[in-house]
Amino acid sequence: MFADNLLAANSVNAEKLKNKGGSAAPAAVPVIDYEGSGYRQDFWEGQGREYEDAVERIALRRLLPARGDRIAEIGAGFGRLADLYLGYNQIVLFDYSRTMLADAVRNWGHDQRFVFVAGDLYQMPLADSVLDALVMVRVMHHLADVPAALAQLQPLLHQRSAAVLEYANKRNLKAILRWSIGRQRWSPFEPTPLEFVDLNFDFHPRWMSARLGEAGLQVDARYGASHFRLQALKRRLPAAALARLDSYLFRVGGKFPLAPSVFVRASTPGAPGRPQFDTTPAQLFRCPACAAYPLTALSQERLQCPSCACQYSQRDRIWDFKLQA
Ligand SMILES: C[S@@+](CC[C@H](N)C(=O)[O-])C[C@H]1O[C@@H](n2cnc3c(N)ncnc32)[C@H](O)[C@@H]1O
Repeated sequence: MFADNLLAANSVNAEKLKNKGGSAAPAAVPVIDYEGSGYRQDFWEGQGREYEDAVERIALRRLLPARGDRIAEIGAGFGRLADLYLGYNQIVLFDYSRTMLADAVRNWGHDQRFVFVAGDLYQMPLADSVLDALVMVRVMHHLADVPAALAQLQPLLHQRSAAVLEYANKRNLKAILRWSIGRQRWSPFEPTPLEFVDLNFDFHPRWMSARLGEAGLQVDARYGASHFRLQALKRRLPAAALARLDSYLFRVGGKFPLAPSVFVRASTPGAPGRPQFDTTPAQLFRCPACAAYPLTALSQERLQCPSCACQYSQRDRIWDFKLQA
């Protein structure tokens, strides 16, 4: 009986994917590798970015529902923003880098609500409709194939979920000024993404809105953020005060995005209803290789795909769903 249900569930999922014209594991998209990186020390700690951190926190507090059953941060890194999710019963920190996640485990591993997952967002190992909230900050910036990424994220949401996504704005004021006085070759008004360094992209807001719409993500709110990312200002004003000033511009900056960073809150009204909340790993995950779910629990720390027999395990608190290249 159980096996029959499993087979039925898998064939439904396979059908769904077929209907979408997608696949569980799309052809390899290049992924930026933060394995072993000093992102925390080299970019955040003592690096004069208290203002950016404070702005992002205000934006997230405003856009994210404060409470819910399950939230996931996609590309969570070392869990810089994880304290904002403590109103949720289960908190998934998902990242491609195992070393970043190991750092997150050092901070949050004592709290059993946290689930740490290593994987590639282009080969998503979370099952459909399992999230009440999804956050992705400073990650779109690294995505070479935004439509493929959004196609993996959208199915994680149900009818009442909220997704807060941040991206770097190509059409920001500084870029417009530099371009208009001839100090920059590329036009900030050209809609295609700008790869200014290998696997670092800025996006035109109109281009991003179109991709979100195509992925079935309805934008309910948009904020422009970090308007005051200028050394001269950051040196003179306390980060908290500058961030508060910035927050007064969130809405108008969302209507006319000129800030270097944009936050959107999106929903999926056409998605399936909210499933029953189940915290077991077998129900939470899907196979990133073939998209089948639920998985079969072989032990507390080992799961198997009922369809392709791939196995996934948890070690030192981190579930490893990275597929071999
Ligand atoms: C700039 S860091 C941002 C970390 C965190 N969101 C923050 O704001 O502090 C980008 C993160 O995205 C992760 N990332 C990039 N591409 C990814 C992918 N394809 N799948 C999963 N994580 C990815 C990186 O490993 C890295 O930890």
